[in-house]
Amino acid sequence: MSSSGEAELLHTFKGIPFTTRSSPELLKSLDSFDAREDDVLLVSYPKSGTHWLAGVITKLYDTRVTVTSPIELGDISRLEELNKLSSKRIIPTHLDYNMLPPNFKNKKCKMIYISRNPKDTAVSMFHYYRDNPNLPTVDSWTAFFDLFLKGNVVCGSWFDHFLSWEEHEDEKNILFLFYEDMKKDLPKVVKEITLFLNLNVSDDDIQDICKKSSFSEMKNDTEKENSNPSHTVCALTSNRKLIFRKGAVGDWKNYFTPKQNIRFQEIFNEKMKLSKM
Ligand code: A3P
Repeated sequence: MSSSGEAELLHTFKGIPFTTRSSPELLKSLDSFDAREDDVLLVSYPKSGTHWLAGVITKLYDTRVTVTSPIELGDISRLEELNKLSSKRIIPTHLDYNMLPPNFKNKKCKMIYISRNPKDTAVSMFHYYRDNPNLPTVDSWTAFFDLFLKGNVVCGSWFDHFLSWEEHEDEKNILFLFYEDMKKDLPKVVKEITLFLNLNVSDDDIQDICKKSSFSEMKNDTEKENSNPSHTVCALTSNRKLIFRKGAVGDWKNYFTPKQNIRFQEIFNEKMKLSKM
């Protein structure tokens, strides 16, 4: 990774790398953020399927909600903007549990955490680093692989992020979802989301929403600009066209060498030894 690029594009807050799109002043003031009881948080480590989930949820609510840009995106004026919204807020974030504004926890807001096989997440993030001008340049997959395993990437360690949320998995206001389950049986996961959010949606409507949320449909919508091209739910870009790359499970097999796979597995086993995953 070029060090000058890194210095200009990233800064560290509480030990976690953020892009300069998240100002230090905003990050510092998040603790005083005023949550509302009916806020819904969409939480993810980058590249886990956040836009897919946001697309589904937007369709489930129809026009009754505003999916905001991520809470950690922008400068201090951001909090005021969010305060002014009169509609129900669906708020995306890549924050780990410890950095989440305490008000969301105290008010027991509903939170949906989406996770994905970290090997596929790493590959997806590698491409994002290459295509996204808000992120430092990476020289090669090999170089990125090392950075990812060390947690030396934007939003920090995948393991720390996942574990910080998994610790709260059993809390009633938190729903844990997996990208791979959405790929396997989207209607089943969407049903689970409707139950969690207390939404009354017919099975026919669920089927319809799933069709409209396929990778190809969402990619086409973005390319044809049927959706706002500059509205993203990722604090790392405002260009939706960077999001829809391949949308597959198991792409890591095209990148990991056997040696890298063994190393990843060893670190995974060590870091995740207390995890239920
Ligand atoms: P790939 O880079 O592996 O293709 P996020 O929204 O958190 O940034 O995650 C982006 C990843 O989710 C990308 O993965 C993207 O292609 C994938 N994705 C987005 N919409 C999808 C969909 N409808 N179905 C499957 N995957 C989707």
